Amino acid sequence: MVDKIDIVVVTVFTIAVAIYFNINLLKDLITGAGDEAFKLQNSSGSRDIVTVLKENDKNYLVVYGSQTGTAEDYAKRFAKELISKFKLNVMCADLEDYDFDNLHNLPSNVVISLFLSTYGEGEYPDNALQFETWLKSLDPFESNLGNVNFTIFGLGNSTYEHFNGAARNAWKLLKANGAHLVGKFGLADDGAGTTDEDYLSWNEKVIEQIKTFLKLDEQDLKFESSFEVTKLDTLEDNVFVGEPSSQYLPSSGKLPSNDEGLQTGPFNTTYPYVAPIVKSYELFDSKSERNCIHTEFDVSGSNLKYSTGDHLAIWPSNANEKVEQFIKALSLDGDMIFDLKAKDPTMKLPFPTPTTVEAAVRHYLEITGPVSRQLLRSLIQFAPNETIKEKLVDLSKDKDQFAKEIISKYFNIADTLYYVSEGKPWTTVPWEFVLEFTSKLQPRYYSISSSALTEKQTIHITSIVENTPNDTEGLPPVVGVATNLLRNIQLDKAGLLKEETSEVKDKVVTNIKDEKKEDVEAANEETVEKKETPTPTPKKLVTKKEHELPVHYDLNGPRDLFKDYKLPIHVRKSTFRLPTNPQTPVIMIGPGTGVAPFRGFIKERVKFQELNPDIKLGKHLLFYGSRDGNDFLYRDEWEEYKTKLNGSFEMVVAHSRLPNKPKVYVQDKLKEKEEEVMELLKKGAFIYVCGDAKNMAKDVNATIVGTYTRGLKIEDTEAREMVKMLKSQGKYQEDIW
Ligand SMILES: Cc1cc2nc3c(=O)[nH]c(=O)nc-3n(C[C@H](O)[C@H](O)[C@H](O)COP(=O)(O)OP(=O)(O)OC[C@H]3O[C@@H](n4cnc5c(N)ncnc54)[C@H](O)[C@@H]3O)c2cc1C
Ligand SMILES: NC(=O)c1ccc[n+]([C@@H]2O[C@H](COP(=O)([O-])OP(=O)(O)OC[C@H]3O[C@@H](n4cnc5c(N)ncnc54)[C@H](OP(=O)(O)O)[C@@H]3O)[C@@H](O)[C@H]2O)c1
Ligand SMILES: Cc1cc2nc3c(=O)[nH]c(=O)nc-3n(C[C@H](O)[C@H](O)[C@H](O)COP(=O)(O)O)c2cc1C
Ligand SMILES: *[C@@H]1O[C@H](CO)[C@@H](O)[C@H](O)[C@H]1NC(C)=O
Ligand SMILES: *[C@@H]1O[C@H](CO)[C@@H](O)[C@H](O)[C@H]1NC(C)=O
Ligand SMILES: *[C@@H]1O[C@H](CO)[C@@H](O)[C@H](O)[C@H]1NC(C)=O
Ligand SMILES: *[C@@H]1O[C@H](CO)[C@@H](O)[C@H](O)[C@H]1NC(C)=O
Ligand SMILES: *[C@@H]1O[C@H](CO)[C@@H](O)[C@H](O)[C@H]1NC(C)=O
Ligand SMILES: *[C@@H]1O[C@H](CO)[C@@H](O)[C@H](O)[C@H]1NC(C)=O
Ligand SMILES: *[C@@H]1O[C@H](CO)[C@@H](O)[C@H](O)[C@H]1NC(C)=O
Ligand SMILES: *[C@@H]1O[C@H](CO)[C@@H](O)[C@H](O)[C@H]1NC(C)=O
Repeated sequence: MVDKIDIVVVTVFTIAVAIYFNINLLKDLITGAGDEAFKLQNSSGSRDIVTVLKENDKNYLVVYGSQTGTAEDYAKRFAKELISKFKLNVMCADLEDYDFDNLHNLPSNVVISLFLSTYGEGEYPDNALQFETWLKSLDPFESNLGNVNFTIFGLGNSTYEHFNGAARNAWKLLKANGAHLVGKFGLADDGAGTTDEDYLSWNEKVIEQIKTFLKLDEQDLKFESSFEVTKLDTLEDNVFVGEPSSQYLPSSGKLPSNDEGLQTGPFNTTYPYVAPIVKSYELFDSKSERNCIHTEFDVSGSNLKYSTGDHLAIWPSNANEKVEQFIKALSLDGDMIFDLKAKDPTMKLPFPTPTTVEAAVRHYLEITGPVSRQLLRSLIQFAPNETIKEKLVDLSKDKDQFAKEIISKYFNIADTLYYVSEGKPWTTVPWEFVLEFTSKLQPRYYSISSSALTEKQTIHITSIVENTPNDTEGLPPVVGVATNLLRNIQLDKAGLLKEETSEVKDKVVTNIKDEKKEDVEAANEETVEKKETPTPTPKKLVTKKEHELPVHYDLNGPRDLFKDYKLPIHVRKSTFRLPTNPQTPVIMIGPGTGVAPFRGFIKERVKFQELNPDIKLGKHLLFYGSRDGNDFLYRDEWEEYKTKLNGSFEMVVAHSRLPNKPKVYVQDKLKEKEEEVMELLKKGAFIYVCGDAKNMAKDVNATIVGTYTRGLKIEDTEAREMVKMLKSQGKYQEDIW
C-alpha cells in the first residue's frame, strides 16, 4: 500500500517540477530573462535565434548550456578563437536567452557549436532546460534539422553515473532530426581532471575541420577586444562597486517588495537576496585540524521560501590578499572607473557596469581557480620579453610540463604570471584582455541543513572550510573562496577578528572551537585575547589554539551592503525529498558534510512527531561517518532527536581514523546491518545518499547491490536491475558533489 502511495507522490512531484520550470519559461518569455545590466545592447530584442543571427549578419553560432560557468568559459574561448583566427562573424549565446523553434530556417552557411555540461543525475543544466524541451519536442520523421551543421563538446565528470548525459542526449536528438555533425563528438571528463586537456585536443582537430568545411583562411592569433572600455571620472550612484545586481544600486531606488514590506523575488542566479547571518559557529572540536562552519541565514525580510532538501547558493567575493595579488601581478589600476560596451550587439557583458577595476576583481571575477593552458597561449602576444615568451610557448605547448609546473602546484592566474616572469609584475596585458579571459565568479551551492517545517525563516548550511596548505616550500595553500569567507564571518561575528591590528596581521587567536553553540553568543561579549596583549583568559574557553587565517575579506561589502554580516543568497530547488508518507522507512547515508540535508530531514520528522504524537513513524536509519570524535558534526543534537522520535530514529556511526583501530566507513556499517536494511527495503524504504560522489556514493551503491544479492539470493545482474529501478522510481536519491 505504502509503496503505491509513494510512487504516486513521486510522479506528482515530478510533474510539479515540470510545471515549475514551465512557469519560469513562460515568465522568461514574457519578461525576458536576465538582469538589466547584462541586457543585449542593440538588437531588436527578439528571442528567435534565426532572426537575431540574420539581423546581425552572423555566420557562426556558439551556444552554451552551463550550470557553473565551465561550459560558458569554453564556449567564449572557442568563439574568440574563431573570430581572431578566421575573422568569422561569430555570435556566442546563452541557450536560455533564445528560442530555437525556427532553427529549420537557419541559413545553410551558419555552423553551430554547442557546449553543454551535465548536472544533477545526467540532466541538462538549468539554463538549457528550455532547449531540452524544444529538442525533445522535435519529430525525427520530419528531419527538421537537415540544414544544420554542428559541433558538440560535452562537459561532465565520469564520477557520475550518467557521464555527459546531457551532451550525449543532445547529440542523439540532433542527429535523429537530421543535423550533421562536423568533426568529432567532444567529451570532457572532470573526474579524470582532464577537462582542459580534453578541450584542447578536441579543439585542435575541430578547428582544422571547420577550416576545411567552411574553406577558411587562417591568420595569426591576435587579441582584439570584444568590448569598448570608456573611462569615467566620478563614482556616480549608478556605478557598481560590487553590488550583485542592479536592484542594489543606490540609483535604482527601492527594492521590489510586497504590501507587507517583504522584499520580493524571484531570487535566482541574476538577483539574490542579501540575507543577514544570524548565527554562525564552528562545528569541529579544536583538536581537529580542519574547520567546519555552521551558518544560519535569516530570510524573514523577504518572501523567499525553501523546501527541506533544497540547495542554498552563496555569492562570495574574493579575499583582500588575492585581490591585491591579482591587481599587482597585472599592474592594474584598481581605482579606474569604467563603462563597457559590447562592440557586437549580440554579446552580453561579462559583469554589471559601469564599475571599477577593483570591484570587478573582487566581486565579479574568479581569480583564484586553476589556469588553463590556453590562457598561457593567449598571453604569448603580451610577453614582456623574449625569455618570458619562450617560457610561455613551452608551457602552452607541452601539457606535461604545464601540469608539472603550474597545475600540480595549484597556481592561480597571478601565481602563474609571477612564476613565469620570475616575480616581476606584468605591465603589458590590457584590461580588456583580463576581463575577457577571466571567468565569472560563481555562486557556491550548499545542501540546506535545516527543515522548512521548523526553520521557516532561517536557512542553515554546513560547510567544510577548504584550506589545504602545501608542505613544499614556497607553494601557496589552496584556499576556498566562499568557505573562508564564511569562516571569517564566523570569527568576526564572535569578536575574534575585529581587534586585529597591522602588527598582528595574519595571527588570530580562535579560541571558541571548544564552545558549545550556546556559548558562542556569550563569547561575543568576552574580551578577545590576542597574542601580543595578554589579558585574563575568559573562563569558558577551555583550549586555545592559534590559527593562521590564510585570507581576509571586506566583510562590509559594496557601499556597506553586507555590513553586520550579510551575504547574497538564493535557493535552488532540488529533487531531494523525504517520502510524503512519514510511515515509510528511510535509510540515509551521509558521511562528513554529506549529513547536512539529513539534519534537515530529521528535524522535519521531529516536528511532525510533535504535531502528530499518535502516529508511529517508519524507521529512520542514518549512517554517518567522520574521522573520529573531533569532527563529529552536530554530535549533541542527534541525542535530542533520538529521544523525541522515541525509537523510530537510529544513528549508526563509522569512524575512519581512531587511533589503533581499522578504518571503518559508512558502507561497512551498512553491510553489518544489511539484514535490517533488507527488511526495511522490503517494507518500501527510501534510500538517500549525500556527500562525496567520487568514491563514497559508488561504494554505497555497490553495497546496496550486495545487500539485494545476499538478502534475496539473486544474481548480481538482477540486484543491479533492482537498484536501477529504485532510482528510476525516485526511491534511491542522491545529492552528491
Ligand atoms: C549541489 C552541491 C551541494 C553542496 N553541498 C555542500 C555542503 O553541504 N557542504 C559543503 O561544505 N560543501 C558543499 N558543496 C561544495 C561547495 O559548493 C563548494 O564547492 C565548496 O564549499 C568549496 O567552495 P570554495 O569557494 O570555498 O572553494 P573554491 O575556491 O571554489 O575552491 C574549490 C576547490 O577548487 C580547487 N582549486 C581552487 N583553486 C585552485 C587552483 N588554483 N588550482 C587547482 N585547483 C584549485 C581546490 O580543489 C579547491 O578545494 C556542494 C556542492 C554542490 C554542487
Ligand atoms: N576528492 C576526494 O578524494 C574527496 C574525498 C572526500 C571528500 N571530498 C569532497 O569534500 C567534500 C566534503 O567532505 P568532508 O570533508 O565533509 O568529508 P570528510 O570529513 O573528508 O570525510 C568524512 C568521512 O568519510 C570517510 N570517507 C572517505 N572516503 C570514503 C569512501 N569512499 N566511502 C565512505 N566514506 C569515506 C572519511 O574517511 P577518511 O578521510 O579517514 O578516509 C571520513 O571518515 C565531499 O563532499 C567531496 O566533495 C573529496
Ligand atoms: C551536483 C553536480 C552534478 C553533476 N552531475 C553530473 C552528471 O550526472 N554527469 C556528468 O557527466 N557530470 C556531472 N557533473 C559534472 C559537471 O558536468 C562538470 O563538472 C562540468 O565541467 C560542469 O560544467 P558547467 O560549469 O558548465 O556546468 C555534475 C557536477 C555537479 C556539481
Ligand atoms: C542598432 O541596430 C539597428 C538595426 O540593426 C541599427 O540600425 C543601429 O545603427 C544599431 N545601433 C547601434 C548603436 O549599434
Ligand atoms: C551543411 O550540411 C549540409 C548537408 O549535410 C550541406 O548541404 C551544407 O552545404 C552544409 N553547410 C556548409 C556551410 O557547408
Ligand atoms: C530572476 O529574477 C529576476 C527578478 O526577480 C527576473 O526578472 C528574472 O526573469 C529571473 N531570471 C530567471 C532566469 O529566472
Ligand atoms: C604540493 O605541491 C606538489 C607539486 O609541487 C604536489 O605534488 C603535492 O600534491 C602538493 N601537496 C599537497 C598537500 O597538496
Ligand atoms: C626577461 O625578464 C626576466 C624577469 O622578468 C629576466 O629574468 C630575463 O632575463 C629577461 N630576459 C631578457 C631577454 O631580457
Ligand atoms: C514510545 O515508544 C514506546 C515503545 O515503542 C511506546 O510504548 C510509547 O507509547 C511511545 N511513547 C510515545 C510518547 O509515543
Ligand atoms: C569530479 O567529481 C568528483 C566527485 O564529486 C570530485 O571529487 C572531483 O573533484 C570532480 N572533478 C573535478 C576536477 O572537479
Ligand atoms: C550503481 O549501481 C548500478 C547497478 O549496479 C550501476 O548501473 C551504476 O552505474 C552505479 N552507479 C554509480 C554512481 O556507481
